[in-house]
Amino acid sequence: MSVAQWVEVARAEDLPPGHAARVEIDGVPVALFNVDGEFFAIDDTCSHEEASLSEGDLITDRCVIECPLHGSSFDLRTGDPITLPAVEPVMVHRVEVAENGMLRVALNQDAE
Ligand code: FES
Repeated sequence: MSVAQWVEVARAEDLPPGHAARVEIDGVPVALFNVDGEFFAIDDTCSHEEASLSEGDLITDRCVIECPLHGSSFDLRTGDPITLPAVEPVMVHRVEVAENGMLRVALNQDAE
C-alpha cells in the first residue's frame, strides 16, 4: 500500500469562508470548501450523476453541500448523502493548511 502524497493545490487565503473551489489531483476532480475557516475536501463529482459539487450551494451551518443538479445534500465531514436521490457517499480527502499558507490535499487512497 502506498503512502498518501500531499499535493499543494491553492493558497488558503484564496478560498475565503463560505466558498468552494474545484481542483484536479492525478486526474481526480476534488472539491474544496471553507466552512467558517475549516477546510474540507471531497470528490467533486456527485455520486448520483455527473455534476460538480463545488458548483452547488454550500450550507455552512450544517456543513453540507447541496448538489446543483438534483439537490442531494452531502455531509462534508463524512461524504455521506443526507437527502435523495443520491444514496452512495462521495470520497472524503484529507486537507490542511501548510506552514507556507498553501492548502494541501492528500487523496484518499481508495480514490486512486
Ligand atoms: S447529480 Fe447530484 S443529486 Fe443528481
